[in-house]
Amino acid sequence: MLTAYDAVMAGLFERSGVDVILVGDSVGMAMLGYASTIPVTVDMMVHHTQAVVRGTSRALIVADMPFLAAQVSVSDAIANAERLVQEGGAAAVKIEGGQPMIDTVRRLVEIGIPVMGHLGLQPQSVHQLGGYRQRAVERGDADRLLEDARSLEEAGVFAIVLESIPADVAAMATRLLSIPTIGIGAGPSCDGQVLVGPDMLGLSSQVPSFVRLYARLAETVGSAAATYVRDVKDGRFPEQAVPAGTAPVSE
Ligand code: KIV
Repeated sequence: MLTAYDAVMAGLFERSGVDVILVGDSVGMAMLGYASTIPVTVDMMVHHTQAVVRGTSRALIVADMPFLAAQVSVSDAIANAERLVQEGGAAAVKIEGGQPMIDTVRRLVEIGIPVMGHLGLQPQSVHQLGGYRQRAVERGDADRLLEDARSLEEAGVFAIVLESIPADVAAMATRLLSIPTIGIGAGPSCDGQVLVGPDMLGLSSQVPSFVRLYARLAETVGSAAATYVRDVKDGRFPEQAVPAGTAPVSE
């Protein structure tokens, strides 16, 4: 699984064999210049989900429920999830949180909206947590995470993202559950892995320590743009005009 937020990148990922594309609320930080995911709205998520759906044909598209879209009331959560699925075209939604989200998850699944869970580091709670540190490090927190994972499975989620937790806790959760776990900064024992697309492509200025850079696109884009600027200023682009009637006709 990788995150993508537009048709072009989602299509490239899908054609490269990515099975699940997450339209994460990480769009706020990765693409829109916000300092956290909190300013991301349901309208923004619908817009980006529509683009990802237009660019793909096979991958499972999961749309994030952004800050407070699922937390205020079950009826609000249904209305917001309905928008992501009906207007956005997502096949499923992802919701951050454990015990407090159980009734909402159960209701969404009952009415036919598949839900992916998200435990461990929950970036929408950054102000409550005081930062983006690893979670479930203490024994009590790890036990609570395992209980949450079991409750989410029982409520009907089809998979759970485990973000920034010790590898042994992720391994325990993976053994405990019969649904897939999808790790990000949670070690190698999860059933699947997810990364933020722009992070692994080397487009983000700061990335968590667990990210592997599979490309350095910021350097490629920067040097392409700088060469273009130099070529225009030095008169190397565009080419000298060809006299009318002698230019090859392009297809
Ligand atoms: O918003 C997001 O991209 C996510 C991933 C980090 C799992 O939730």
